[in-house]
Amino acid sequence: MHITIIGCGYVGLTTAVSLAYMGRCVHVIDQNEERIQMLRRSQPPIHEKGLEELLNQTNGRLTFGTWDSFEIKTDVVIIAVGTPSKENGDADLSYVEAVARELGQRLTPQVCDKSTSAPVIVNKSTVPIGSARRVQSIISQHLKERNIVTSISVASNPEFLREGVALHDTFYPDRIVIGSEDTQAAYTLREMYAPILEQTFSAPEFLPRPENYLLPAFIITSPTSAELIKYAANTFLAMKISYINEIAGLSEKVGADIQEVARGIGLDKRIGSQFLNAGIGWGGSCFPKDVQALIHTGEQYGYAMPLSQSAIDVNYRQREEVIKKLQSALKVLRGRTIGLLGLAFKPGTDDLRDAPAITIAERLIELGVHVKAYDPIAMENCRHIHPNLAIEYVSSSTELVNGIDALILITEWNEFIHLPYKLYGEKMRQKVILDGRNALNSQALRDAGFTYIGVGK
Ligand code: NAI
Repeated sequence: MHITIIGCGYVGLTTAVSLAYMGRCVHVIDQNEERIQMLRRSQPPIHEKGLEELLNQTNGRLTFGTWDSFEIKTDVVIIAVGTPSKENGDADLSYVEAVARELGQRLTPQVCDKSTSAPVIVNKSTVPIGSARRVQSIISQHLKERNIVTSISVASNPEFLREGVALHDTFYPDRIVIGSEDTQAAYTLREMYAPILEQTFSAPEFLPRPENYLLPAFIITSPTSAELIKYAANTFLAMKISYINEIAGLSEKVGADIQEVARGIGLDKRIGSQFLNAGIGWGGSCFPKDVQALIHTGEQYGYAMPLSQSAIDVNYRQREEVIKKLQSALKVLRGRTIGLLGLAFKPGTDDLRDAPAITIAERLIELGVHVKAYDPIAMENCRHIHPNLAIEYVSSSTELVNGIDALILITEWNEFIHLPYKLYGEKMRQKVILDGRNALNSQALRDAGFTYIGVGK
């Protein structure tokens, strides 16, 4: 089976490497030549655990190129380009539409003829309701202009991987959702995913099959349902975090400990303990834009979605809370030096899209604070994406703590959990630590003379 994937970002590249590892021939196309050149040298342009190792285990089945290399003899074309937020909260479909136009101009009569099995086009990008139809209509329109009369099948195949554990989630998903009204297309996609659905591949050494792992469900829905499933799932997860953060705020007022409360809540099987960690809130490339897009879809249909909106409001309040807590601990912020431990929106990634670190750094700088930062992976990305953000980047946590008035744990990288904080305290101007992820040993820090500030405790 030959598969073409458009877009070599977190989703496209992870999918490509996984399917190639499992025996599929995969060609990846990206308009970014620099990324393609890196990949040809087996260097992933993004940080994702295991990606580099797997890139070298695909035995020539994985190739990369720009649009000029588009190979018409392909069974499936997977669209995995970005769908960022527009100003009004709607998803920006321009990248997806540009891909649809390219496809409409490049698919040939032979390939488009049903009798020689046209490639199934798959929307893996997170897209608003009606996008499968939109992509289909753009491709068909271009084909028509080229006097090619054929029907093209566009399926929706939302992706649920989590950055940081993207390969794990691709190899061992809970479910694969295909939104298609074309039985043949759904069958082709079932074939494509067969090694995952049946778990017939031999697991890479560093990615063993989890104990008690159940085969993933394969769900066929209408394209519209598949499109809604993705937005609804992300919004639900975001709401769960915002909910526990709201309860964390109340815990602080009434004197409860949110970690005890969350444990007591999460042990109820109907609720579950995941996504119940209070902290400075969610960010990243998916939750913020997907919740916005869901609300925007509601607006387009004249339907208010107050729960989803509240999830966003609570989330941004969490970031502002960090500033308030620092103000209350340090009294005056102007002229202080504050260290950010971590920048990425979560551990395991260099992704900084809508990361709490950026909002917090911007606010602190606005208030006259000198901001220092250290992140094991995301600093280069931060310099690149936010060249005007006046952060002093340092090369280690030891360097970070020198002469600072407060330390904020922003990203709970594993290596940050057991740092020699006692020693670090001696290098700090003031021993104030704001644990934005409730990840540190609060008692040990207090014993070491720190003013420890957590979230909801
Ligand atoms: P990304 O921004 O990391 O990568 C997108 C890639 O597409 C870039 O390399 C870009 O150069 C390329 N591209 C854009 N327009 C192109 C065109 N016309 N032709 C060829 N290449 C083009 O995006 P990411 O994070 O992989 O997300 C892709 C989609 O998957 C988005 O809709 C996102 O919401 C969704 N998604 C992302 C997840 C994540 O964790 N990052 C998880 C689940 C879904």
